[in-house]
Formats: sequence, structure tokens, C-alpha cells
Amino acid sequence: MPAVLEAINVRKSFPDPRSGELLAIEDISLAAGQGEFLTIVGPSGGGKTTLLRLLAGLQQPDAGQVLFRGEPLTAPRRSIGIVFQRANLMPWRTVLHNVALPLEVAGTNPEAAREQAQALVSLVGLHGFADAYPTQLSGGMQQRVALARALVHEPSVLLLDEPFGSLDALTRERMNGELLRIWDVRRPTVVMVTHSIQEALFLADRVLVMSARPGRLRAEFSVPLPRPRDLALTATPVFAQMIAAVRREIVE
Ligand SMILES: Nc1ncnc2c1ncn2[C@@H]1O[C@H](COP(=O)(O)OP(=O)(O)O)[C@@H](O)[C@H]1O
Ligand SMILES: [Mg+2]
Repeated sequence: MPAVLEAINVRKSFPDPRSGELLAIEDISLAAGQGEFLTIVGPSGGGKTTLLRLLAGLQQPDAGQVLFRGEPLTAPRRSIGIVFQRANLMPWRTVLHNVALPLEVAGTNPEAAREQAQALVSLVGLHGFADAYPTQLSGGMQQRVALARALVHEPSVLLLDEPFGSLDALTRERMNGELLRIWDVRRPTVVMVTHSIQEALFLADRVLVMSARPGRLRAEFSVPLPRPRDLALTATPVFAQMIAAVRREIVE
């Protein structure tokens, strides 16, 4: 499987007032293939967001390289969509206009932008809420809007940074099912950071485990569960064993 997105021995540090330098991640290499679903778990502060920002081209590594389709990634691009933990919607814009915003910025004609945004609003299950404002939506619905907005340029890569981290457990489970459904329609390459081992295993083709700071890759698990996946899977003994195996690799 040819890699769509690749990190090669990346390292990233930040200026630190006390020690001079805070090493966030070190020597991380990974490759995500076309249409592959990767999840990343690891202790908080271990550099997961930093890694995702490098993969998005939002920041540059101090050492090593990030490649998008074999070319160095030096800036964000439309073919890489991002969803952060907070939806960051514009409160004065309706759902439809939040989703259409990146298209408007890109100069798409308003009618076409509207149609495209409407299709995405339906895709994420918000049909009927196109004219609602963000404050009228639940947290789960706001994340759906953020997901629709991230899909607006039909990205081949979708980067998700704990997108369901602030949702209650039931909503989160439902969003996992929805995410897989949407992924199945468009089949982007996904790299998703999550705190939940269950979520990581349920969604992924491969789970990568990061260490505490400085973040390095500690372990990798293939998830040989058939698709489409049903939540009932998470109650099976084999799933419980996989959770235990991943948990053993996570060192807080
Ligand atoms: N822009 C920044 N400036 C300074 N330090 C940062 C910056 N971004 C992240 N860090 C530090 O890098 C480390 C890793 O952070 P982060 O990537 O957010 O970890 P995670 O997402 O795994 O919780 C933390 O110690 C954090 O304080
Ligand atoms: Mg983070």
C-alpha cells in the first residue's frame, strides 16, 4: 500500500523558559496508506497533538520530514482536513454557513458552495439543522459540523485530534459508528488521536501507542477485525484481550 502521509524520524521541541528547550516528540516514523484508518493513543502531554500538527503541515519538524504523497509537506493544504477537540464554529453563522465557509474563502461560487455544504450537512446526519446556529446544537452535533467542514474540500487525508473527547460516553459511541459510516462513503486516509483505547481499536486498521514525553512510538497493533464493524464487537472476549494488550503498552 503506497503511503499517502508519512513521517520520517520527526522531532519537535518548543522553547521552554526554564530548561531552554522542551522536547515534545522524538524520532517518530509512521506511514498511513491510501484509505487506511490509523489511531494514536498515549498519555496526555506526550506530544500527540504536536505530531498531528506536523502531519497537517501546520508546523514544521526540527528534524526529520513529513511527506504527503512522497513530497515534503511545508504548509497546510486542502487535501488534508482537520478536526480538533473543540469544534471552533463561528457562532454568528448557521450550520450551513459554517460548513460553506472554507468554500467561500476559496472563491467557490455561492450557489455551488451552498449545494456542497448542504450535501455534507446531510452526510453527517444534520439534515434539518442547516439553518440552526452552533449554540442551538449539542456537543456531538457541533462536532458533526466540524467534521462536515473538514470534508468540504474532499480531502484525501482526515486528521482528527480527540474529536469526541468532550462528549459523554453514549454520544461518543454513536459518533464512532457515524464516523465509520462517513469514512466508508469517502474513504479518506484517517489519522485520529484519542484517549480511549476502546475507540482506538473499534475504529482503526492499526493502533499506534505513544510514550510519555518526549513522545516516541512504543508499539503498534494491527486490528484484524472485519468491517463493517458493529458496536457489539466491543463486548466480545477477543476485543477485551486487545484492549488489555494496548493498555499494557501505555505508560502514564
Ligand atoms: N506551542 C507550544 N509551545 C510550547 N510548548 C508546547 C506547545 N505545544 C505543545 N507544547 C508542549 O509539548 C508537550 C506535548 O504537548 P501535546 O502535543 O499537546 O501533547 P498531547 O496532545 O499528547 O497531550 C507538552 O509538554 C506541551 O506543553
Ligand atoms: Mg492533545
